[in-house]
Amino acid sequence: MPVLTTQVKKDKSLHREDSETQQRGSNTTAKVLLQSVTKTYANGTPALLNANLEVKKGEFLFITGPSGSGKSTLLKLLYGQELPTQGEVIVDECNVGDLRGDRLSLLRRRIGIVFQDYKLITQRTVAENVTFVLQAQGYTRKEIQRRLEPTLKLVGLLSKADCFPDQLSGGEQQRVSIARAIVGTPPLLLADEPTGNLDPDNSWQVIQILQKLNSFGATVIVTTHDEQLVRRCNHPVVQVRNGRLSRK
Ligand SMILES: Nc1ncnc2c1ncn2[C@@H]1O[C@H](COP(=O)(O)OP(=O)(O)OP(=O)(O)O)[C@@H](O)[C@H]1O
Ligand SMILES: [Mg+2]
Repeated sequence: MPVLTTQVKKDKSLHREDSETQQRGSNTTAKVLLQSVTKTYANGTPALLNANLEVKKGEFLFITGPSGSGKSTLLKLLYGQELPTQGEVIVDECNVGDLRGDRLSLLRRRIGIVFQDYKLITQRTVAENVTFVLQAQGYTRKEIQRRLEPTLKLVGLLSKADCFPDQLSGGEQQRVSIARAIVGTPPLLLADEPTGNLDPDNSWQVIQILQKLNSFGATVIVTTHDEQLVRRCNHPVVQVRNGRLSRK
């Protein structure tokens, strides 16, 4: 399974994470582990079949595959939106399937998610959509302001901070969802088709943003249909076909 050996620079929060891991006496560098995971939805639809995957800390991994092959399901298992039917899903050494309530919320705080369908709040501005989660997590107003501007700048939306989602193009809405996912500098970023609605130039910009976060130490997992984009980057690729994973 994919192993990325590039040495990455780490920000303070990631150093903290590493020292916590060391204190627990662990010697693993896996950020994400899927062990013999099968997911069958309640209506009987099979989505993943005996999937095994290891993603190491600091790795940038692409997941490709046709529509309906199980890519989003895989990401949903990682942040606990879906539970595996069989097998174990481990993130930061926690069995996600065992987490409930506060413990699941705590894990999710450490995961940035770019949803395939954006999930923007229509009655809130771009700035409010991006900072909403930080507010809910108790960040101070000053810290939120400190993070907002560079994040909007990074995704090219500084001039749209006061617009509402329905005043934006599809690609701009997609970039708001990316800003929201990265504003808290999460150690794990899951991006589900983050370039699905973008032209090649904008797609490349988005990948560069994700790569930048990765260069600061974040583990990044990106699903995409865009074979050209995948070829342009030198990152490991896992393919999903009919719920089965294989290394490309
Ligand atoms: N909530 C659900 N209930 C039942 N079946 C589901 C559910 N969500 C997804 N599926 C089915 O599970 C399979 C995998 O879906 P998934 O969304 O993971 O595919 P995907 O690879 O992300 O596709 P796309 O590229 O179109 O986003 C599909 O057959 C889909 O119809
Ligand atoms: Mg999907």
